[in-house]
Amino acid sequence: MSVHIEAKKGEIAETVLLPGDPMRAKWIAETFLENPTCYNDVRGMLGFTGTYQGKRISVQGTGMGIPSTLIYCHELITEYGVKNLIRVGSAGSYQEDVKIRDIVIAMAASTNSGLNTIRFNGADYASTASFELFQKAIEAAKQKGIPLKAGNILSSDEFYADKFESYKKWADYGVLCVEMETNGLYTVAAKHKVNALSILTISDSLVTGERTTADEREQTFKEMIEIALELA
Ligand code: ADE
Repeated sequence: MSVHIEAKKGEIAETVLLPGDPMRAKWIAETFLENPTCYNDVRGMLGFTGTYQGKRISVQGTGMGIPSTLIYCHELITEYGVKNLIRVGSAGSYQEDVKIRDIVIAMAASTNSGLNTIRFNGADYASTASFELFQKAIEAAKQKGIPLKAGNILSSDEFYADKFESYKKWADYGVLCVEMETNGLYTVAAKHKVNALSILTISDSLVTGERTTADEREQTFKEMIEIALELA
């Protein structure tokens, strides 16, 4: 076992889907995988391995925010040999044409987190998606007739910002939406030369103030998972 994951070596697949919410991990495993078995319950951060169309695949909750995500991704890569890390999460829209329930692929992830500024001695690091996984996701979505948007996103350290208006600066520079994890995921994947991709569904809009209902979230979540499962 590693510090935060109690799986034995070999119990986690090379491709792992990463929802923030551990109960989402359970739902994904029970809804989409055959013969899912739970390999982790440390801190309630559930992880499962099963098969999808004959391919072995795992699902691991990461918790919220870059620090929590980095802990799980680091251990998955360095202790369990994971090669493809695919975040499946929700995000808030920054653009009028990025609508509730849209699916967005993060080609790059900007951040207001201090982690990379510290790591790179005050310089900025552009954290980007795996080209290979990105191409596969575009292809899978096309095959399934699921529309996608793709571009730069923001991984923010704060959910409740002091100044609501501060999102407009990012929006002006073309950032599509905000979540709280992808910049960390892309950075740790680059360091260890493995593949990472974030697929996000828009759950709320900072532009219009709308929010998805639980039913709507579940439906779009399904489409996002269907794309993610094709990347194994
Ligand atoms: N995830 C989903 N919506 C979000 C928002 N508005 N801010 C940060 N993370 C989010």
